[in-house]
Amino acid sequence: ANAPVNITVTGAAGNIGYALLFRIASGALLGPEQRVNLRLLEIPQAVQAAEGTAMELFDAAFPTLGSVDIFDDPKAAFEGANIAFLVGSMPRKAGMERSDLLSANGGIFGPQGEALNAGAADDIKVLVVGNPANTNALIAASHAPDIPSSRFTAMTRLDHNRALAQLATRAGVHVTDIDKVTVWGNHSTTQYPDLTQATIKGAPIPEILADRAWVEEDFIPTVAKRGAAIIAARGASSAASAASAAIDHVHDWVLGTSGSWTSAAVMSDGSYGVPEGIISSFPCTSSGGEWTIVEGLEIDDFSRSRIDASAAELVEEKDAVAGMGLI
Ligand code: NAI
Repeated sequence: ANAPVNITVTGAAGNIGYALLFRIASGALLGPEQRVNLRLLEIPQAVQAAEGTAMELFDAAFPTLGSVDIFDDPKAAFEGANIAFLVGSMPRKAGMERSDLLSANGGIFGPQGEALNAGAADDIKVLVVGNPANTNALIAASHAPDIPSSRFTAMTRLDHNRALAQLATRAGVHVTDIDKVTVWGNHSTTQYPDLTQATIKGAPIPEILADRAWVEEDFIPTVAKRGAAIIAARGASSAASAASAAIDHVHDWVLGTSGSWTSAAVMSDGSYGVPEGIISSFPCTSSGGEWTIVEGLEIDDFSRSRIDASAAELVEEKDAVAGMGLI
């Protein structure tokens, strides 16, 4: 059997952590043959709750679960990590100033980046889920000079999956019939879920794209604002779907994408006019453990303006954290 894979999950006692840990431990992430060791990072006040989750993981007697260890120190938690899910963060709360939001996250993701740099395994792969995810990933990357910046990614897979689900419903097909959907930009309401290349059972969708009212006033805002709709309905933010998307992202990163491509927020190399040095969502394939941006897609005028707007927001966030000395 392969050597066990060490997986660190931050925010392990939170809602997403609760859903995510059981999927990882059950083999949904890396398959039924791969043993995983879980390393849970929490703040000291939540360590006890994390211990409760660890008891339940133990009680599930998963064949693929090696060990579970709990930490309140990032340096220890990331020691030897092959994969890191950075879920714990300080998301925006009502009335919160943007500078407070960014500085609170700088205080989390800066030290976590340093800890990853100091102790993670050479093949470390980092997925940031905690919001503002793209900029938090940038902060962590900038504190880890010895780790290639391509190893720091942020999650737009939930947005991607939401787009698949909306299109499947509109077209009366199954999500597996759909290919070539892209979410561009920031994991925020400026994101651009793009159907211009989409195919259903291999065929383009000109009739659906011609329905501009549906695309622009229904599909795009429904996908971009789905998080708020879930909170309104459930009284709590999306957790199981977010965990499922995190599994999808890292599964595909490690084991390779199947089908056309997926959406992942990766360090921009300037592709599609997205400024270099921001972590922005692109159409991506993965093989051999590396993401590659799908090049050469045609970008129409509407798409251009939406991609530019979301990239501009990311540049603004980057400038703000740079101005505060956080990167
Ligand atoms: P939650 O509040 O239930 O859990 C967060 C956990 O993180 C708490 O247990 C907290 O103690 C812990 N935490 C806070 N600071 C920490 C630190 N420095 N180190 C380790 N742990 C720390 O939140 P939930 O629902 O699990 O969501 C987590 C994050 O994921 C939020 O920022 C949320 O906005 C984001 N999110 C992102 C999505 C995406 O698509 N990218 C989708 C849904 C949620």
